[in-house]
Amino acid sequence: MYEVSEMSAIMQHMFQLNEQLKERIESGEELGSFSESFERMLIAKMTNDKPMDDFFKTHAETFLANQRSIYENPAQAKELYNEAINSCITCHEVKCTGPITKIEKLFIK
Ligand code: HEC
Repeated sequence: MYEVSEMSAIMQHMFQLNEQLKERIESGEELGSFSESFERMLIAKMTNDKPMDDFFKTHAETFLANQRSIYENPAQAKELYNEAINSCITCHEVKCTGPITKIEKLFIK
């Protein structure tokens, strides 16, 4: 039976929350707050028990710091948001190229 890994579930959740965040930034709404559940990506199990190497950990930390900074500096939300999406892609270019086209749609033009 096919089961979605915890990591995949977190990724899908991050995708959805960033879609919502994009809309909020574009329409100038309140941003809400950083979702602490994203921190689970530092320990979540991956598909087929893929190991979590140093590249993944380093880039996950960078991504989480970038994502958090959006909420701490709402005046620069657009730039910081695009930087966070960039750090999704930096990891994906090495770890999981499949969803890149989908992630690129999150950028705010
Ligand atoms: C540190 C590396 C890293 C970062 C940062 C990262 N990802 Fe991922 N992503 C992965 C890996 C590895 C997988 C595959 C997980 C698995 O196989 O269990 C994945 C899977 C996915 C998937 C496919 C999930 C599925 O199976 O349906 C999507 C969509 C995704 N990521 C979106 C994002 C988005 C959006 C961001 C930023 C908000 C992001 N990722 C940040 C490494 C990363």
